[in-house]
Amino acid sequence: MSVTVRVPAKVNVQLAVGAARADGFHDLANVFLAVGLYDEVTVTPADGLRVTCTGPDADQVPLDGTNLAARAALALAERHGRTADVHVHIAKDIPVAGGMAGGSADGAAALLACDTLWGIGASRTELLDICAELGSDVPFSLVGGAALGTGRGERLTPLETGGTFSWVFAMAPRGLSTPAVFHAFDRLAEGRDIPEPVASRDLLDALAKGDPDALAAAVSNDLQPAALSLYPELADTLAAGRAAGALTTLVSGSGPTTAFLARDPEAAARIADALAASGTCKTVRVASGPAPGATVVARQP
Ligand code: C5P
Repeated sequence: MSVTVRVPAKVNVQLAVGAARADGFHDLANVFLAVGLYDEVTVTPADGLRVTCTGPDADQVPLDGTNLAARAALALAERHGRTADVHVHIAKDIPVAGGMAGGSADGAAALLACDTLWGIGASRTELLDICAELGSDVPFSLVGGAALGTGRGERLTPLETGGTFSWVFAMAPRGLSTPAVFHAFDRLAEGRDIPEPVASRDLLDALAKGDPDALAAAVSNDLQPAALSLYPELADTLAAGRAAGALTTLVSGSGPTTAFLARDPEAAARIADALAASGTCKTVRVASGPAPGATVVARQP
């Protein structure tokens, strides 16, 4: 018996960051867009909890209790008074430590897969609560589409999208740690007044209209200077994408993956070729969004 869940990556089209809170987190206005790069998580009954992973970045994925997929299985089992006797296999296509919520995606996928495998049928609210305990980006991986995340990013309001946006993503040779990027943000913010983070009206309108030019004019990422301070070479990748005709360029979330908005899929293919030839990144992928959230795609009896 096994259950497979497919789960998308995300890009943040707006990431407005407030001052550090007493608990160390930052209040955000975080506009998530799920994009069609997917991990697939398969769960199968086993003697104990075990995580395996395949894919190009598999050697960078922790297989111990720190993996969000393992933590998701344990959290659900604990709430429902059972043991997490399950083999969780991650077929990984989302870049690791890339700012595209790959780890969060696996947490949301494992949660939905175990819920289905164990016949629990937890409510959406309970699943979202567990996701929020696991990490700030995990609820969005469950929901997908487009959404505004407030609080530390875990409180979601679904957003309307009036079309499909074409993106190119450039993966960097090494990862960046999310806490390190937030710490760099705090250092850069020292002595400055940090305004309350608010979603941009222009950006929400651009998403609702499906207008790539308006979206390009409205995207922003307050973590970008922090990511660039830790990884200055990313500026070369951004410049290469701009020169190749991207409507806009930005660091995805805490980075180091960089994101390039294209007018249409043909333009995206041209920008991807130019980025691959630029020698400024490790790999290049094309994907469009919005994409659906975590979804059961196979169930073996
Ligand atoms: O919630 P998650 O475990 O993904 O967060 C990872 C780290 O990113 C946190 O420990 C914190 O350092 C930083 N973070 C933050 N503010 C947020 C989300 C994450 O400072 N809203």
